[in-house]
Amino acid sequence: MTTYIKSKKIGLRKLKSSDASFISNSAKNKDVTRYTHIIQQPFNLVRAKKFIKKTQQDIKEKMAYEFGIELREKKELIGTINFLNINKKNKNSEIGIWISKEYWGQGLAKEALNLMLKFGFEKLKLERIQARVLHRNILAQNLFKKLGFKLEGKLRRKTYFKNKWYDDLVYGILRKEYLK
Ligand SMILES: CC(C)(COP(=O)(O)OP(=O)(O)OC[C@H]1O[C@@H](n2cnc3c(N)ncnc32)[C@H](O)[C@@H]1OP(=O)(O)O)[C@@H](O)C(=O)NCCC(=O)NCCS
Repeated sequence: MTTYIKSKKIGLRKLKSSDASFISNSAKNKDVTRYTHIIQQPFNLVRAKKFIKKTQQDIKEKMAYEFGIELREKKELIGTINFLNINKKNKNSEIGIWISKEYWGQGLAKEALNLMLKFGFEKLKLERIQARVLHRNILAQNLFKKLGFKLEGKLRRKTYFKNKWYDDLVYGILRKEYLK
C-alpha cells in the first residue's frame, strides 16, 4: 500500500528503517513519554527498527496503521500517528499520536489528527474512533477535544504506569459527528 496523505504542512507516510534513530531519540525525551510509551524500552536502535518492521507488516495486512508524520517542506519526520486495535466487524479503532518535543505547540498534531480522521472515516469507512488518555495527560485531552472528540467515560485506576495509578479517560468521535 503506497499511502501518502497530505495537507498544507504535513504528510503521513509509512515508516522506513532510516527513521529508527529519530524514533529512538524521541523516545528518550521524558516529556514525550511521561504518559505514554512510543516504543518499548530500551529505546535503542534495535528496538526502533523492530517496531518499524512491525508497522510495515501491519499495514500490509491491514491490521493497524502507524504512519510517520513528516514536514512536507523539509521531508523531516516529526512524530507518528496510529490506528491500533482496529475492529473490522464493528468498524472502529483506537487512535494514538506523539510529536517530538521540539515541534510541540505549532498546531502540527491537530493537522495530523485531522488527516488521520479523514483517512479513518473516508477511506477505512470507520463508524467510531476512540482515544484512551491517562487522566493527567492534559495536552492530549485538549488536543482530542479540539478535534471534536467527546469525553465518554472514565475508567478509574485502570492503568499502572511508571509506578503510579491513573484513570483512563475515553474520548470518542463518531462518523456522523465528523461529517457534520
Ligand atoms: C499531545 C501532543 C501530540 C500535542 O502535540 P502538539 O503538536 O503540541 O499539538 P498542537 O500544537 O497541534 O495543539 C493542539 C491542541 O493541543 C492543546 N495544546 C497544545 N499545546 C498546549 C499547551 N502548551 N498548553 C495547553 N494546551 C496545549 C491546545 O488545545 C491545542 O489547540 P489550540 O492551539 O487550537 O489551542 C504532544 O504534546 C505529544 O506528543 N505528547 C506526548 C505523547 C502523548 O501524550 N500522546 C497522546 C497519547 S494518545
